[in-house]
This record gives sequence, C-alpha cells and structure tokens, in this order.
Amino acid sequence: MSIEIPWVEKYRPQSFENIVSQNIAINSLKEFIKNPNMPHMIFTGPAGTGKTSTALIIVKNFLKEEELRTNLLEVNASDTVRIDFVRNVLKNFVNQSLIKNGRLKFIILDEADNIPGQVQQALRRIIEKASINIKFILLCNYINRIIDPIISRCAVFRFVNLPKEKIVERLKFITENEKLQIPKDKSEEFYELLFFISGGDLRKAINTLQMAVALELLNNLDLSEILKISGFMDKRTLDELIVALKSKDFKKSIEIIDSIETFDSRNFIRQIVDALSHVNIKPKKVPALRSFIADIDYRISQGANENIQVSALLAEIIEKIEG
Ligand SMILES: Nc1ncnc2c1ncn2[C@@H]1O[C@H](COP(=O)(O)OP(=O)(O)O)[C@@H](O)[C@H]1O
Ligand SMILES: [Mg+2]
Repeated sequence: MSIEIPWVEKYRPQSFENIVSQNIAINSLKEFIKNPNMPHMIFTGPAGTGKTSTALIIVKNFLKEEELRTNLLEVNASDTVRIDFVRNVLKNFVNQSLIKNGRLKFIILDEADNIPGQVQQALRRIIEKASINIKFILLCNYINRIIDPIISRCAVFRFVNLPKEKIVERLKFITENEKLQIPKDKSEEFYELLFFISGGDLRKAINTLQMAVALELLNNLDLSEILKISGFMDKRTLDELIVALKSKDFKKSIEIIDSIETFDSRNFIRQIVDALSHVNIKPKKVPALRSFIADIDYRISQGANENIQVSALLAEIIEKIEG
C-alpha cells in the first residue's frame, strides 16, 4: 500500500460551505469577519467537529497563500504550555507585526483549555497588549477551563457534535472518491459501526475508515477486527460478557475483561452503556445505575485506577441486572 496523506487532511473542508452541521456558528462567523476590527475568537466544542478547519478557512479568507508562513502562527498548547514559550514565541510574533503594516496576523492556539491557569494569565496580558491587526483564535473542548478575562475579550462560537447522517454522508463520499469496495450487504452495518466508534467525532470516523483500508479489512469486511483495533470489544466478547453479567458471575466477567488485548476503559463504558439498553434491568434501578456509571467514567477521566473502577462497575451491574 502506498504512503498517502491522511484523509483527514485530504478531505479537510476548504470553504464555509463545506463545513457541515455548524450552521449557527458558521452563519454568525460569516457576518462577524466582515468587520476587520473583529475581536479575537474562541471556538469551543468536542473533537472532530470542524474547529481547526474553520479557523484555517477564516485565516485563508484574509491572507494570501504566500503570507501564511509569516502571518500565521499555529500552536498546539498541549505540547508547548511552558510559560517561557508563551512569553517568547507569542511575544516575538506579536511584536513583529508592528513592522508589517496593514495585513492581519493570526495566532491559532489549539487545545487552549490545556494551558495552565498561570500561563493563561500571561497569555491574557499578551492578548491585551496585541495591536489591532493581531487576531487570536483559541480552540478548546471545554470553555469553562479558559479564564474569564480571556473569554471576555473574545467572541465565542460553539461547535456541536455531528449527527449520524452527516458522518455517514461524509464517509460515503470518501468511500466513493477513493473507489473503495465495500460489500453491499454489510455496508449499512459498516457505517453504523464507524459512527459508533467515532462517537460523533468525524476525524475519528475518517481515521478509522483509512486504517481499515490500510489493514485490508474491507475485502471481507471484518467488523470484529475494526472494533478491536479501535479499542472496543468485538461482538462475541461483548455477548459473552453480558451472559456472565446476567448469570451474576463476577469472576468470569473479570476474566473476560482481562482477556481483551486492546482494552480501553472509557470505550468500554460507552460500549457497555449501549449494551445495557438491550438487557433487562428493573426500570426503578436504571437511574441509580446510570448515575453510578457516570461517576466511574468521571473518576477514570480524572486518573483513578482503571482496574478498580471497572471492577466496581461490573459489580454494580451484576447487582442490578436481571437474569
Ligand atoms: N463540521 C465539519 N464539516 C466537514 N468536515 C468536518 C467537520 N468537522 C470535522 N470534519 C472533518 O474532520 C477532520 C477534523 O476536523 P477539525 O476541523 O480538525 O476538527 P476539530 O478541530 O474540531 O477537532 C477534518 O479534516 C474534516 O475532514
Ligand atoms: Mg482541532
């Protein structure tokens, strides 16, 4: 297989018209950027919903191709959050702008919500002092992790998860364009699966499709393998686990979990929540179980021991599930 550019780049939308499902944000953005004195911007929302693509479209709306090198600074905050980086690189970039008159300069700060509070304070001062031709575009998943003094200097645009139809539509478009052969009888199931794996993140959906192609899983459409490489249980393992849970066999459930090579606890939770909607649980017990699962998911996200959390989850399900 030849080395290809990642499809997420190849199929990155190049104009506002190609950004799907973000009508509220895009419509107001189109108006917003008519004013060259526009304030800075924050794009907030889940991964793979078009924030970076939209930021690049805006920048290209103002800058010529040859200006991108000098007038655009794109930094991912998660690998460069050190305070001296913010000070030096940003300050240099911001100051150079005084020389070149007229043209706008853009700073795209990806994963801005990963910048520690103290560094955000430094950033805030840089934003305050920046001249009018400098525009910051901050990208983040959680706006509540951005300090208020920054938020109040920016216009906030919210990006939402893409619905299933839109994700499937885009995947079908890529499938056609890449001339992929997908067995007809299984194709709907295949797209359903990619959507499930993506959790509404179009980047993940496209990457999974490309990975399935690279690993030659499309020919006889090995859905189990696609689930496994994406860090989910295949259907057989999931069915076995449900049987073990229903027969209240804690030891067996743990064994099944331990046998999974690509175990990913948060994917596991998504999958089990999905599966639980098809098993018998007394309606009165459902809210407590849901709330328990949400707590486990949160604790894992905060770095709690995964083994302990997952076994607590299994124990709780066994407690609540009907045979
Ligand atoms: N709203 C959207 N419309 C069209 N394509 C999208 C959209 N959101 C994501 N994509 C696709 O997913 C990839 C990643 O999008 P990106 O803009 O980097 O998302 P984000 O920055 O929100 O994580 C893009 O290359 C594009 O192919
Ligand atoms: Mg992005």
